[in-house]
Amino acid sequence: MAKIADKYFVTDPWNIIEEGFNPEYSSVSESIFSLGNEYMGVRGYFEEGYSGKSLIGSYFNGIYERQEGERSAYKGMVNITEFMVNSVNWLYLRIKIDDEILDLSNSKIKDFKRVLNLYTGVFTRSFVWITKSGKEIFLEFERYLCMMDAHLAGQKLEIKPLNFSGDIIIEAGLDFSNPHEMVRENLWNLEDKKTDELSCRILGSTIGTKQKVFSCCKFSGDMTTMGDLKASSKIVGKIFRVSLQEGKVSTFKRIVKNISWNGARQSRSLCEFYSECETALSSLEEYDYEFLKKSSAEWWKNTWDISDIEIKGDELNQQGIRYCIFQMHQTYHGVQEGAVIGAKGLTGEAYSGNTFWDTETYCLPFYIFNNVKAAKQLLMFRYDTLEEAKKRAKELDCEGAFYPIATISGKECCTLWQHASLQLQATTAVAYGLWHYENVTKDKEFIYTYGIPMLIEIARMLASRGDWNNDRTYYGYYGVMGPDEFQMMVNNNCYTNYLGKETLDYTLQVLNQYRETRPDNYDNILEKYNLTKTELDYWQKISEKMFIPYDEERKIYEQHEGFFHLPHVDVDKIPTTDFPLYHHWTYDRIYRNDMIKQPDVLMFLFLYNDRFSTDVIKKNYEYYTPRCIHESSLSPSVHSILATQIGKDKVAYDFFGFATRMDLDNYNRNTHEGLHTTSIAAAWMNIVYGFGGMRSDGKMLKFAPSIPDKWEGYSFCVTYAGDTIKVLIDKSGASFHTLNGTNVKIKVYQKEYTINGNEIKLPFVFEEE
Ligand code: BGC
Repeated sequence: MAKIADKYFVTDPWNIIEEGFNPEYSSVSESIFSLGNEYMGVRGYFEEGYSGKSLIGSYFNGIYERQEGERSAYKGMVNITEFMVNSVNWLYLRIKIDDEILDLSNSKIKDFKRVLNLYTGVFTRSFVWITKSGKEIFLEFERYLCMMDAHLAGQKLEIKPLNFSGDIIIEAGLDFSNPHEMVRENLWNLEDKKTDELSCRILGSTIGTKQKVFSCCKFSGDMTTMGDLKASSKIVGKIFRVSLQEGKVSTFKRIVKNISWNGARQSRSLCEFYSECETALSSLEEYDYEFLKKSSAEWWKNTWDISDIEIKGDELNQQGIRYCIFQMHQTYHGVQEGAVIGAKGLTGEAYSGNTFWDTETYCLPFYIFNNVKAAKQLLMFRYDTLEEAKKRAKELDCEGAFYPIATISGKECCTLWQHASLQLQATTAVAYGLWHYENVTKDKEFIYTYGIPMLIEIARMLASRGDWNNDRTYYGYYGVMGPDEFQMMVNNNCYTNYLGKETLDYTLQVLNQYRETRPDNYDNILEKYNLTKTELDYWQKISEKMFIPYDEERKIYEQHEGFFHLPHVDVDKIPTTDFPLYHHWTYDRIYRNDMIKQPDVLMFLFLYNDRFSTDVIKKNYEYYTPRCIHESSLSPSVHSILATQIGKDKVAYDFFGFATRMDLDNYNRNTHEGLHTTSIAAAWMNIVYGFGGMRSDGKMLKFAPSIPDKWEGYSFCVTYAGDTIKVLIDKSGASFHTLNGTNVKIKVYQKEYTINGNEIKLPFVFEEE
């Protein structure tokens, strides 16, 4: 846990501020200042070009390329991966004065500042450029991505000459020529490009997957057109002259419309896509830069009204958690068909833009309580990719559906066979997500229509992937890898078995409820999915006989059969220079002892918290925590939540220490690769489920708030049962009310209350069962 903060950005409750230009830190800042609106994302790179280290990252959700590796002779191995591809740079600019090109790597500048306003979603960058001949120009760049209509974005440049009058040349275009960072190749073919007096458009197609991105923009401002830009065959653009007057601000603006087409999982045809492109430019006529900026800020205001977490007395975490909430909404809000939450969101190319079990396990709760439509849409991704999961099951000699451990289109993209073949938790996470969603929203219709087909196939996989022990007394999963990726091929991993059992029980429960409430249609379901009583009985039987390794005496779940007897490693004695371990220890050495990467037993104790006594949680927490090295950023928050539950407040706060500022303080020293989007979701859980003590896995929404010593107070909102509940906590206790005055039933410290528009205030209680 020896992580050290790289304190760099200015602390401010609503802004991320960088003062002064530090080329060494520029790639980290590029990630931090990423903008996104689920549809597209763009890193905080310098649009005017920069010859220093930079990742010109411009991404579209669901637009990916494919790479084929050598085919393995072994069945079930993955040799084709798909990765989010770097796309059109729609912010492309070049700025010249007297033939001198602005490039922050070589140009002389002063008063550099970047500001990301979390409240409005607007990102600005300003500095004074001092040319070789001593001309001083103040430049301010501004950009935003529209939240109302995610195809739209704006860019503005304000230019103020401080000590001269004269011309500045601006080249502005749309650029498909950038390479993908991982592959180091440009992966686009150009289909079309065109310019008019004050506009341009471009259409690119990915070389392998033949997906399309169309981009067009309309320029406006104090400039005159000089001609077309001829920088490279994959760029289209215009050259403009702006005649500057000393002390006067001149403006250059553009509104951009981007349209993507990924072929799969989208209800529109290629023809429809082309006709959208045809009208795109003319549709920009109806928009105005400032109007779009304002309406986008309005979207953010409404979002903050129901999503903000306010922390009093802790400026660092205040800024940190707002940054996390901002990034969650930027990454995903459930509008775009086929969109996913990549482990790095739309902010970088690490993890290839792939989505993991993190989505249902860590991200879904945020959406269930902040944007239920998005939660549903996330689950729809798994419904839409069910056929792929069925194909994958066949490849792995299973029946039903085996969901991929890492994916962008629904296909398995993880080339590490031990993860791709042995980890069942992506599949059980889908069932868990459905269950959690239904448990909170009571949306049975969704479960009946979309959940049942997924649950049936998941249950089939569980009934075929597992096996009976030698004397057929219990059922379990052999040769698996649980969430703790440091135990490679184990038998009866407790998490896998527990989730397997819960999934089978939930599937049977949903089908039973369906039979009771829609008896006339039940047989149709049986017929449609070829379900027989024998198959259902078998699911029941394996659930009943599922082996859950547990030491009754010590009340400790055994992470897998034999875990208790593994050689012990004192993780506190591992030199900090050995971290991250996977770079310093051989792969097999990591697997040979009782050291764990991230919560495994503790994970299911958190997910199904209501089923376990505080005593059991405490005993397991005390056993597993000293063995965990938290090599995954998903780990500390779960420990923090459980530590709060068992009254270890100081430890809980220590674990929380870097949750909200993982990227702002570059704790893992890899923020330059992109943000840790799913651990950002864990930071939200850390406050709401941790200190707020919320639990959403029981029959009723529960809270057991506490307050970290350092904080004067905090508040958060969760949207639930048709209203938004506001929870305000200070040193004297917690108060609850609904924002629109609806009556909502909740439990606080195990007692039931009906809350409404009037605040009810309750003192703190610490419950030891
Ligand atoms: C973790 C996985 C996680 C993945 C993506 C890995 O380091 O061990 O649990 O799914 O990162 O976040």
